[in-house]
Amino acid sequence: TSEVARMKNLNIIEMGQFQVEPWYFSPYPLEYAYTPILYICEFCLCYYDNKTQYTRHRSKCTLQHPPGNEIYRKDDISFFEIDGRRQKLYCRNLCLLSKCFLDHKTLYYDVDPFLFYILTKRDERGCHIIGYFSKEKESAENYNLACILTLPQYQRMGFGRVLIQFSYELSKAEGKVGSPEKPLSDLGLLSYRTYWSEVVVECLIGFDGEISIDELSHLTSFTTQDIMHALFSLDAIRYYHGQHCIVLSDRVVEAYERFQKKKHRKIDSACLKWTPKV
Ligand code: COA
Ligand code: NA
Repeated sequence: TSEVARMKNLNIIEMGQFQVEPWYFSPYPLEYAYTPILYICEFCLCYYDNKTQYTRHRSKCTLQHPPGNEIYRKDDISFFEIDGRRQKLYCRNLCLLSKCFLDHKTLYYDVDPFLFYILTKRDERGCHIIGYFSKEKESAENYNLACILTLPQYQRMGFGRVLIQFSYELSKAEGKVGSPEKPLSDLGLLSYRTYWSEVVVECLIGFDGEISIDELSHLTSFTTQDIMHALFSLDAIRYYHGQHCIVLSDRVVEAYERFQKKKHRKIDSACLKWTPKV
């Protein structure tokens, strides 16, 4: 039955030097599921159910980075842009892999309408995938991100933040506001709420004088709804002398100062080599 078919079907995935356990069902072909280890080439994302075939593939695979244009490079971090229509196999393989960590996503085969932005880390062997986000080529709702994933072996190291920041850098380059596609997963919402709050607080603290929600939206490419979401989660909206105003509590300012002291990877917009397609 479909109920059985949708149960988690993979045991262990091996990619490069990492082994990870999938969280959710992913529609890999049946003959690949239920094997003890699914081997995935970290460069082309092709999959193998036995080590011999995988090793043979690795000796022949010539890819050393995702099959697209490098549109950002700083230090050992790069972003590659991939068109779903031109790299169908890679993008389908990426969707299969990411479904292992997403429980509600339905895009597996129709990758044509999407661009994929792959975050990688470079060493002497190549550019290794850390995570990615996808983006509709045309979004009627002004979504600037459809799906986001940091591979589990790289989670909680600040890469989700880098992916989110990059999605807004693209929106800024387009001169648009944007927002992630709904519904977000629990982890997606946590990451976005943290990001929106940090950026909004940074703007408010760095800004001299009065600033409106619309001006904040213009500066950040966040929608006014997402800015309000951040301000409410910071408990920063107060009603004062008959007017709504933004007040940052000492607790919020202190949290921001602690955050500033930590080392965070940040996108350097000067290193983005990209112009929006018109
Ligand atoms: N528990 C609590 N807070 C979390 C969290 C978790 N497991 N994961 C992220 N956050 C919050 C934290 O505030 C964190 O900041 P901190 O580590 O300084 O406290 C902030 O988000 C950013 O975390 P970061 O390390 O940059 O995120 P990440 O690289 O782990 O990636 C996701 C975040 C959402 C991309 C990742 O969890 C993921 O791929 N999940 C599976 C796929 C998914 O659900 N995608 C979203 C739906 S489309
Ligand atoms: Na976004």
